[in-house]
Amino acid sequence: MSLNAVELFSERALGFKQSAIREQLKIIDSPEIISLAGGFPDDRFWPIDRVIEASTFALREYGKKALQYGSTEGIKKLRVLLMDRMEKEGVNSIDLDNVIISTASQQGLSLLAQVFVNPGDTVIVEEPSYIGALQAFTSMQAVFCTVPVDKDGMQMDALEDRLKELQKAHIRPKFVYTVPNFQNPVGVTMTLERRKKLIELAHTYDLLIVEDDPYGEVRFEGEPIPSLLALGGKDRVIALRTFSKISFPGLRLGWIVAREDIMDKIILGKQAADLCSSAMIQYIAYEFVSRGWMDDYINVVRREYPKKKNAMIAALEQYFPVGSSWTDPQGGLFVWVKVPEHIDTTAMFHEAISAKVAYVVGSAFYPRRDDNCHMRLNFSAVDPEHITEGVHRLGDLLKSKI
Ligand SMILES: Cc1ncc(COP(=O)(O)O)c(C=O)c1O
Repeated sequence: MSLNAVELFSERALGFKQSAIREQLKIIDSPEIISLAGGFPDDRFWPIDRVIEASTFALREYGKKALQYGSTEGIKKLRVLLMDRMEKEGVNSIDLDNVIISTASQQGLSLLAQVFVNPGDTVIVEEPSYIGALQAFTSMQAVFCTVPVDKDGMQMDALEDRLKELQKAHIRPKFVYTVPNFQNPVGVTMTLERRKKLIELAHTYDLLIVEDDPYGEVRFEGEPIPSLLALGGKDRVIALRTFSKISFPGLRLGWIVAREDIMDKIILGKQAADLCSSAMIQYIAYEFVSRGWMDDYINVVRREYPKKKNAMIAALEQYFPVGSSWTDPQGGLFVWVKVPEHIDTTAMFHEAISAKVAYVVGSAFYPRRDDNCHMRLNFSAVDPEHITEGVHRLGDLLKSKI
């Protein structure tokens, strides 16, 4: 008799959802397809020689410590460096106990789900929202209360309405999850006014905010806006940061900022998950950041990505049918496109693959998967000529449906 694992899976595991993006990435892993789908940085700009130098130095300098188990909180000198970096951005309510290293932001999301979410608990999310966060919260059986996003980020009047409804129903949301800068997938940034309103609502309704900000430093136009953490302080805001877009996702390194009582639980959760993030990678990251090489790299990204974004916007203007619209982000990696209403972007995906171009279907970013007229296009990973060609192919396909 063969073992039927389904009888053994937890209810939680039975509810796990596939990430539409990961599934799609498997299909599009072919060199002829122009992929505007993933969220990858452009590896052609990576200073590999510097990474080799930082790695060699880290192993020589910290050798045995680098290869040993580290503390769950992370290497102290890296945490100090990151704390100082955040202080320069106006975050001054934190000290070392409030900062730990994580195995990138995705682990931060997963730990927060573990720390806060019981089955059936309500979590407030933007709609559309980052798919990996939806996955992490779903894995702990969260129920989503959604708040729409427009060109200025999460809509605060809609949030307030939702909060009133929840209060009436005696439901206490566990937290509000937001990606305030160059949101994934929409690419929009929450205005200062809305950030202040969110902090005000957090006080009025006694809320915790989770600020996930992988893209804030990938700003290539306009002025930076203070973070929710800087505005609201650690009492109400947990911040997730990552090295993935400001250096290399392969490091799998990020950091979490939270107040002490919450951090204690996060640390216990992390101990159970992986004991610690790789000490060796943390030392390499320390060398890379402290030598100013990460800032050099960020400057390259800020110089090069707008060329790609501009190529994408120009191609959308030239090739997409009347009735389409899109966001024009000042940073980050994504443009969010609305196609004419009667066209179904989910149904069109396989035709796009046949036309040798890929995008991520908009429905993937909606908890109820009930949107079919959007697509997320990535501009960071592809060069401008291929962006133009990819958008041209998509535009032709869309026009053939009108
Ligand atoms: C909003 C957001 N949060 C978190 C992540 C996870 O990134 P990582 O685990 O590489 O830090 C991503 C990745 O694209 C993201 O877009």
